[in-house]
Amino acid sequence: MSNPSQGALAKLTPVLTKRWLSPDAWKISMYERLDGYTALRKAFKAHPDELIQLMKDSGLRGRGGAGFPTGMKWGFIPQNDGKPHYLVVNADEGEPGTCKDLPLMMADPHSLVEGIIIAAYAIRANFAAIYIRGEAMHSARRLRSAVDEAYQRGYLGRNILGSGFDLDLVVHSGAGAYICGEETALLDSLEGFRGQPRLKPPFPATHGLYSSPTVVNNVETICSVPYIVLGGSAWWKTMGTEKSPGPKIYSISGRVANPGQYECSLGITLRELLELAGGMQDGHELRFWTPGGSSTPLLTAEHLDVPMDFESMAAAGTMLGTTAVQIFSDSDCPVYATYRWIEFYHHESCGKCTPCREGNYWMAHVLRRILSGAGTHEDLDTLLDTCDNLLGRSFCALGDGATSPVTSSIKYFKQDYLDYIEGRKAPMFGAGELVGAH
Ligand code: NAI
Ligand code: SF4
Repeated sequence: MSNPSQGALAKLTPVLTKRWLSPDAWKISMYERLDGYTALRKAFKAHPDELIQLMKDSGLRGRGGAGFPTGMKWGFIPQNDGKPHYLVVNADEGEPGTCKDLPLMMADPHSLVEGIIIAAYAIRANFAAIYIRGEAMHSARRLRSAVDEAYQRGYLGRNILGSGFDLDLVVHSGAGAYICGEETALLDSLEGFRGQPRLKPPFPATHGLYSSPTVVNNVETICSVPYIVLGGSAWWKTMGTEKSPGPKIYSISGRVANPGQYECSLGITLRELLELAGGMQDGHELRFWTPGGSSTPLLTAEHLDVPMDFESMAAAGTMLGTTAVQIFSDSDCPVYATYRWIEFYHHESCGKCTPCREGNYWMAHVLRRILSGAGTHEDLDTLLDTCDNLLGRSFCALGDGATSPVTSSIKYFKQDYLDYIEGRKAPMFGAGELVGAH
């Protein structure tokens, strides 16, 4: 473990995180003292279409994992259609290892509220909702108090700051289902139904909340909006890469000296991130890692110098995802990690489609059999075959995502699987623990 060098520290680009260390930045009085709500005043001087164009020019891409261009998404909202428009913020952060939105809302909830008002004004929505993960009670309380403060100061409600624009904002807590982070399941849940994905297309942009045009954006995406309004698209593009511009909050966890949130330009490498995080924990050597949560295929020490932006990660056979960088060392077993992730997907599968409901059940079962020393060589084929039947054949991204740890761990760590199967590695579970374990 070592302290980060000046060179490493220079890689930090605190934009969204810049207020995190200011005491009481979550209170409106402090937020206003630190430039808060100035972007909103500036935004109200622009036409809504100009704001949509600004987002397009900035190249901002969705920070929830998929990286869809934000300006294009806003531009999909039909105009003069006579229907109400909605803005829904996806704060149901649940991807394993992902922990950027909750601290963002705890430390700086007003940047989200301000971003929401600007985004709602741009897409002509008079109602917005934040759908927050049920377990995140502290963040929900803080958000509700920020929303109350914003109403009291006239940033929400009728005729905001004399602009003629009205907006109501509610904070809605989910009940802790991972699937409700999928945008259409989230909308179903918000409408009061059981949260299960809807068929896409049509996309929420045209048929969203109550079948009306709806923008669903991630917390970090919306928090970026006030900074782009203030700084402009050219400034935003001074960070990151040509196709993945801007700063990004990377959450680094696992076997590192200083786990936490590091906001850097998109395109930073794992080597640089590790230096910022004080390196690996003493006595540990990097073995494998996820670039963006468990739904993104694993990478290894070979990939230390691959830029972590949307394109480079895709070229490396994985995805940037939520930039939840989970670090595993030579003390960690990739087969066991995969089993734990598949248990998670099995538990969280909503059960709507057969490949995901049954596939995750069987994969958890087979992985546990391998880890208990009772696996066979055919089990590896069964796992890969099950993944073939999941990827592209599931109803939503949960099923696709579940294949990532399985296929990538077999790709890079087949020998570990064989060591269990051929008896070179001590079983993790007793044979008796197999029954009903999944
Ligand atoms: P997607 O690629 O289907 O869609 C991305 C966004 O673009 C959506 O809002 C969608 O409505 C919109 N979109 C795409 N094509 C469109 C079109 N032709 N017209 C209008 N709108 C369009 O990806 P999805 O399924 O929304 O998200 C998958 C990602 O979510 C994964 O990459 C994963 O990394 C991430 N994820 C994040 C989690 C978290 O906790 N933040 C949890 C689980 C997964
Ligand atoms: Fe539900 Fe899984 Fe099918 Fe998605 S892929 S709809 S989570 S069963």
